[in-house]
Amino acid sequence: MFEYWTSKLCRPAIAVAILPFGLLLAASAANAEGFGFGTTPTAAEIAAIDIDVMPDGRGLPPGSGTVAQGKALYEQNCVACHGENLEGVAATGGAALIGGRGSIGTPKTKKTVESYWPYASTLYDYVKRAMPFTAPGSLKDDEIYALSAYILNRANIIGENDVMNADTLAKVQMPNKDGFISDARPDVHNYR
Ligand code: HEC
Repeated sequence: MFEYWTSKLCRPAIAVAILPFGLLLAASAANAEGFGFGTTPTAAEIAAIDIDVMPDGRGLPPGSGTVAQGKALYEQNCVACHGENLEGVAATGGAALIGGRGSIGTPKTKKTVESYWPYASTLYDYVKRAMPFTAPGSLKDDEIYALSAYILNRANIIGENDVMNADTLAKVQMPNKDGFISDARPDVHNYR
C-alpha cells in the first residue's frame, strides 16, 4: 500500500494535497509570533462570555428581564447597528433581527431571529457571547434576559408584559421551530 502511494505516479498528487497544510502551519506560526494586533484574553475576559446554553434552556443562568428594560438597553447598546425597528443597518453590517416570517424556503427568504431561529435560548447564548459587536461580555445576565425579551416582543413572539428568565425563555415557541429536519446520524443528539 505504502509502495503504491509513494509511486512516482502519485507523488505530485501528494505534494499538492500537502501544500495547503504547509501553508496553514506557516500561517499559524506567524500568528503565534503576532501580527501586531490583538491581545491574549485574560481569564476574566474569557469568563465574561463563557456560556453554553442548550436549545432546551440548560445552561441558562439565574436572572430575569422585562421588555421595558430591554427597550432601554437596546436604545443604548444595539440601535446603532440594528436600527430603531430592528430592521438592521446595512452600513454597519448589523443584521435585521425581526421580519421575514414565513419567507424561509421561498424566493424571498429573509433570515432573522423571528423568521429563522428555532430556539429562543440561542438568543441569550448569542448575545452573551457576541454582542454588542464592539464589546462582547459587557452585558450583565439580567440585561441579556431583558434584551431577549425586547427582541422577542418586537418579533410578536411574546407579550409586552412577559418576563424572560431561564424557565420562560426555554419555553418560548419560535415560529420556525419545525422548519428544520433532524440529523439521522446515530452519534448526533437531536433536541426534538
Ligand atoms: C457595532 C455594531 C453592532 C452593535 C452595537 C450590535 N450588533 Fe448585533 N450584530 C452586528 C453584526 C455585524 C452582526 C452580524 C454578525 C455576524 O454575522 O457574524 C450582528 C448580529 C446580531 C444577532 C444575530 C442575528 C442573526 O440572525 O444572525 C443578534 C441577535 C444581535 N446581533 C443582537 C444584538 C444586540 C442585542 C445588541 C445590543 C446589546 C447588538 N446586537 C449590538 C453588529 C452590532
